[in-house]
Amino acid sequence: MTEPTHHPGRAPRVQREVTSFVRRSTRMRPVHLRAWERLRHAYVIEVPHRATSTSIAPGHPLDVAAAFGRTAPLVVEIGPGTGESLVAMAAARPEADVLAFEVYLPGVARAIGRLHEAEVTNVRLLQSDAVDGLTHLLGPASVQELWTFFPDPWPKVKHHKRRLVDRAFADLVTSRLRPGGSWRLATDWADYAIQMRAVLDPHPALVNAATDPSGWADRLADRPLTRFEQRGIDAGRTVRDLHYRRR
Ligand SMILES: C[S@@+](CC[C@H](N)C(=O)[O-])C[C@H]1O[C@@H](n2cnc3c(N)ncnc32)[C@H](O)[C@@H]1O
Repeated sequence: MTEPTHHPGRAPRVQREVTSFVRRSTRMRPVHLRAWERLRHAYVIEVPHRATSTSIAPGHPLDVAAAFGRTAPLVVEIGPGTGESLVAMAAARPEADVLAFEVYLPGVARAIGRLHEAEVTNVRLLQSDAVDGLTHLLGPASVQELWTFFPDPWPKVKHHKRRLVDRAFADLVTSRLRPGGSWRLATDWADYAIQMRAVLDPHPALVNAATDPSGWADRLADRPLTRFEQRGIDAGRTVRDLHYRRR
């Protein structure tokens, strides 16, 4: 990413040269395709896009109250994958509206199948790039809590520029969080955890809200163990949770 132009109260304008994801196959197993066709209208928000299907066109801010049919504190999840954390954590917060951005279509289809099975109704998903979503759909200080659990690690040094959590992304997230709002992150990649701390600890709009003097946060009690997290643990990696508050 290039450096953003920051204007207080507005999303920084980020001219992205690389994205945190690559286009993957959209092929789905028949069971997930059926879930997609049957349930997408209940859970998936369609928005105008630019050149690619995961992009979002500027100039069409989301009417969040209309999307959820009520006004409630807004939680945003970035990259829920197949929705393992999303479903459990949204179910535990019926008082909140949970909006999730996931670029991977089969993941979205699995997530809406899980939501339907669990009868969770306070979630809407966009099959879209979260950077475009935060930039173009959501207003300043509109988000109460934001979750970034196990973002793609891009372990090779030449790919580090694809990592989602960098200063430009932190500027964008903080512009969308309400004062006092929380940003919770987790990763099982030690150098990514350190990169997150290096970017977020000194960020002028954030306070590290971890209670432990080490600065690493306790695991959120109801954050379930996902397939990605289990894979990291099986490979001997240490999971780090991080918690920041918007000043
Ligand atoms: C490693 S997976 C983790 C999934 C899930 N959070 C978990 O813990 O099981 C990261 C996910 O982030 C999604 N992703 C990456 N960049 C994204 C972006 N810019 N916007 C939305 N989703 C993104 C990927 O498609 C992938 O599903």
